[in-house]
Amino acid sequence: MSVPAYDRIGLSYSAVRRADPRFETAIWNALGDAGIVLNIGAGAGSYEPRDREVIAVEPSPVMIAQRPVDSAPAIQGVAESIPLGDKSVDATMGVFTMQHWDDVDRGLTEVLRVTRKRIVFLTLDLDVTAQMWLCSDYLPEIIEHDRQAFPTIAHLQAVLPNLQAEPIIAPADCTDGFCVALWSRPEAYLDPDVRRASSIWHLLPPAVVAGGLDRLRQDLDSGKWDDCYGNLRTQATLDIGLRLVKAELQGAEAHSSHIMVRGLKVRRSQTRRGPSR
Ligand SMILES: C[S@@+](CC[C@H](N)C(=O)[O-])C[C@H]1O[C@@H](n2cnc3c(N)ncnc32)[C@H](O)[C@@H]1O
Repeated sequence: MSVPAYDRIGLSYSAVRRADPRFETAIWNALGDAGIVLNIGAGAGSYEPRDREVIAVEPSPVMIAQRPVDSAPAIQGVAESIPLGDKSVDATMGVFTMQHWDDVDRGLTEVLRVTRKRIVFLTLDLDVTAQMWLCSDYLPEIIEHDRQAFPTIAHLQAVLPNLQAEPIIAPADCTDGFCVALWSRPEAYLDPDVRRASSIWHLLPPAVVAGGLDRLRQDLDSGKWDDCYGNLRTQATLDIGLRLVKAELQGAEAHSSHIMVRGLKVRRSQTRRGPSR
């Protein structure tokens, strides 16, 4: 395994990226009756349920080292090659992780292989995220970059059976300081410690980041940001594109239009055999 990116990015992760209790409740409810849960791309352990058996899989030792002492055991590994047997967990969860996988389809094939009942991901619908002011007015490069990394909801719907996507509306006081979560706190983007815990600030060219943040700083100083968006400072919630996607696997065979074959999405009808002779 090559050196995981989060060994560099994740050094102060758990200080800024604290699980938000409202997202936690939504994820735990979506896990339903699952007794054994795989948390893939588990990081420092955010959002893991405490009332069930959890197995964490995470590539970065730096992230694993930030897991609380009483958290579930973590195995170093990647989604593309999950170190678990077929149908060995009731549910798999993954929070803000798919965009980091080298091969999303390979990872989803693996998740389908190890999971018996259901799959729950918290991810972004970038068509909605693109409308958030940071992305629309200051750094459209965030969305340009992320479109290469995040699977679309339509892609997930084609690959994972019986998929439902539920909007999770972001509270203004969200405790998980991921990039667009700071929609009501524009000054936070000017704090390097806050930016350090979100990968996008490490992935964009430094000159692009500096240019966007300079424009934001100027607009905050001049009052232009508040003229345009000051109402957000007192708004309670905003749809920033967060989506809880949930796939039900039991009885799924008849419903899914595609299956994955060696990492490729193939229409189910193309895989049917002809009449036997
Ligand atoms: C934004 S962090 C999210 C961590 C955690 N799920 C959370 O909500 O705090 C993304 C995580 O995905 C992990 N990751 C990166 N590549 C991965 C891969 N190929 N398979 C599984 N996880 C991966 C990173 O190391 C990192 O811990």
